[in-house]
Amino acid sequence: MGKDAETVSNGGDAQVSNSTQGFKLVGFSNFVRTNPKTDRFAVKRFHHVEFWCTDATNVARRFSWGLGMPIVAKSDLSTGNLSHASYLLRSGHLCFLFTAPYSPSIAAAENLTSAAIPTFNSSACRSFSAAHGLAVRSIAIEVEDAELAFSASVAHGAKPSSPPINLDDRAVIAEVQLYGDVVLRYISYKNPNPPENTSHPDSWFLPGFESMDEGSVFPVDFGIRRLDHAVGNVPELAPMIEYVKGFTGFHEFAEFTAEDVGTSESGLNSMVLASNNEMVLLPMNEPVFGTKRKSQIQTYLEHNEGAGLQHLALVSEDIFRTLREMRRRSGVGGFEFMPSPPPTYYRNLKKRVGDVLSDEQIKEAEELGILVDRDDQGTLLQIFTKPVGDRPTIFIEIIQRVGCMLKDDEGKVYQKGGCGGFGKGNFSELFKSIEEYEKTLEAKQISAEPATA
Ligand SMILES: [Fe+2]
Repeated sequence: MGKDAETVSNGGDAQVSNSTQGFKLVGFSNFVRTNPKTDRFAVKRFHHVEFWCTDATNVARRFSWGLGMPIVAKSDLSTGNLSHASYLLRSGHLCFLFTAPYSPSIAAAENLTSAAIPTFNSSACRSFSAAHGLAVRSIAIEVEDAELAFSASVAHGAKPSSPPINLDDRAVIAEVQLYGDVVLRYISYKNPNPPENTSHPDSWFLPGFESMDEGSVFPVDFGIRRLDHAVGNVPELAPMIEYVKGFTGFHEFAEFTAEDVGTSESGLNSMVLASNNEMVLLPMNEPVFGTKRKSQIQTYLEHNEGAGLQHLALVSEDIFRTLREMRRRSGVGGFEFMPSPPPTYYRNLKKRVGDVLSDEQIKEAEELGILVDRDDQGTLLQIFTKPVGDRPTIFIEIIQRVGCMLKDDEGKVYQKGGCGGFGKGNFSELFKSIEEYEKTLEAKQISAEPATA
């Protein structure tokens, strides 16, 4: 932990303290951010996210259309894969993979598996979809050495899911259990700098994948560039943080409790774990009980049949452009967004971020329903979609971070991970602005009432 919990006396304790064994939330204002650089293996970045579905073609195309991410590669019957259909979407460094099983009897009859992803398991995939609906199976990170990452993780308590497998002597893949049925997948390349811009996905992605047929890739782009954070919902935060921190060595990067956000209505406690370079950010939430409204985390856990991935935050290089494009498609197969805050939110925004955003940008944020928050280092623009599938479970966040530009050892400018935070301030600002807005409506109702004698 960043701080010895026992020495901290504060008003920010978690409302429900199942967080006691060597771990205790201290609250946002008491949290001291440090980077002890304690990773147990060398971590580079998020590599891809894999969704398990019952029909990959349809889900991949819907996400491609809604997020402006071209389908760039495939591994399916047309490439000789009898086991699973997989389609890869890419925008900048963000890769989404959609995988579904083919016929169970054909898969069972195969002597030698033709699966491009050798960790794929047909019956596990089917029961996964039955239990969770459309959901994320794997968060993949590129590491320097997947074999080492796997053995270090298992030596420090990780439950193995798949031992390291050598892929054509080009890459290694290994998996350990994360939370629920989600795995943390390690990928490393024999050639440490795969040529990302070549047209051969078996060199920059995974062997067994082929480019889409010539002319079939529609050059769509809404400005989404990479994955910022991947958030999990778990029934109890403390043991899960201990587990993940234990085998990865990741450090505590940020946290907030239900009390921090100025209202008990949010119903969650949260902790963010980060890799040494703070480019892999893994927040986790637990529900808080005893509040007026049921915790949204508890709702998720019930509908998802347990722990799982709650949301993926995607970085846009221009959130206004991304939102204009996404909103145009909301009603025709794209993604819908949560209701926009009332006008009072944007009136207060000038006071909060008037030094960072121009009046025109604040106006555009209001038109598009974008929320803005800041921390001691930078500013965060964010917006959330409604759940992407049938169940009130997984959703997507689009963000843009402003500020915190640093230079690395070679003088290359980069943005510090997590710049501007994760939107904690928006909870209280939203509730405050909704209250103010409701008061203005009440005032209107009173003035509209007929005068009585
Ligand atoms: Fe987020």
